[in-house]
Amino acid sequence: MSTAFEFDSKEFASSISVQVPHVEGTYDLTPDQVLLDQAEHESEVRSYPRRLPIAIKRAHGALVEDTRGQIFLDCLAGAGTLAMGYNHPEINQALKEQLDSGLPYQTLDITTEAKDRFIKRVKAFFPEQFATESVIQFCGPSGADAVEAAIKLAKQTTGRNTMFAFRGAYHGMTNGTMGMMGNLGTKARRTGLMSDVHFMPFPYSLRCPFGLGGDAGAKQSIRYIERLLNDDEAGIMKPAAIIVEPVQGEGGVIPAPAFWLKELRRICDEHEILLILDEIQCGVGKTGYRFAFEEAGISQIFFVFLKRLAVVCQCRSLYSTKRSIHGMLANIRAHSAVTN
Ligand SMILES: Cc1ncc(COP(=O)(O)O)c(C=O)c1O
Repeated sequence: MSTAFEFDSKEFASSISVQVPHVEGTYDLTPDQVLLDQAEHESEVRSYPRRLPIAIKRAHGALVEDTRGQIFLDCLAGAGTLAMGYNHPEINQALKEQLDSGLPYQTLDITTEAKDRFIKRVKAFFPEQFATESVIQFCGPSGADAVEAAIKLAKQTTGRNTMFAFRGAYHGMTNGTMGMMGNLGTKARRTGLMSDVHFMPFPYSLRCPFGLGGDAGAKQSIRYIERLLNDDEAGIMKPAAIIVEPVQGEGGVIPAPAFWLKELRRICDEHEILLILDEIQCGVGKTGYRFAFEEAGISQIFFVFLKRLAVVCQCRSLYSTKRSIHGMLANIRAHSAVTN
């Protein structure tokens, strides 16, 4: 497939300007009728429209046109989900072909040839060892759905209820994922979120609870976690899983050092704790690797990635001794995002 920058601009010149807009004066952002209707009929629970008060008419590549005909350069890209831009001709063509091929709209998690092809393409994109060791579970279409599925699988396979997350973490806005969120402002008015979550120090100089920062702070964070797990008087039960973003996204775009991730992997091995890597924001080519965890060279992970096409991957070998895994997978209602 070509990249978003290689499409034939002539093809679209008639429908929308493909030039980056030249702005003179200020844009009109007073609410037009579409926005007034939205305010009247939609719930107050809206997030992006509060900061971006526009109604979108059409979009192409990195450009968005609002209902007033004003052109914007879109740096949000569906919160990082539209790597190929809007209305990429090859993606549109594939969608049209799929629609005309007679595939059913909905098959629950019953497979189709299209889904089979998709899984093989996704696995071909994984690092080789991870691809051979892993199986894929399809969840609902959001990143939070994938994290929720990983939490459930971790709790069910280990029989434990506790989770370790990190200060500064963001894993979504559901009851369980918010329970593992660092940001207090967002959580402040929500009581009764998923309980039994304990927050460990993430290696970040500006928030280093040991006053060290850098590699020294990261090493201390590992020591802290290890000592806590080895301490019978720590008051915290061994977790089902430790969940971590290899690069914290909402927490400030903070990469965890590769040695720190390796050490976390070692600790998880020694204590038979599952390691969940949340690459929903930092995965798929954003760190110089296909996936951020590759730099640390670790495997045996629960891996959640791809916003808007939530997927949980589990390493097969992780479960080779757990007879319950197949029954468990069947019980979790996993919808295929391809056939939905
Ligand atoms: C690291 C991380 N995990 C999970 C999520 C949740 O994804 P979604 O908004 O699709 O539920 C996000 C969203 O930005 C994220 O950045």
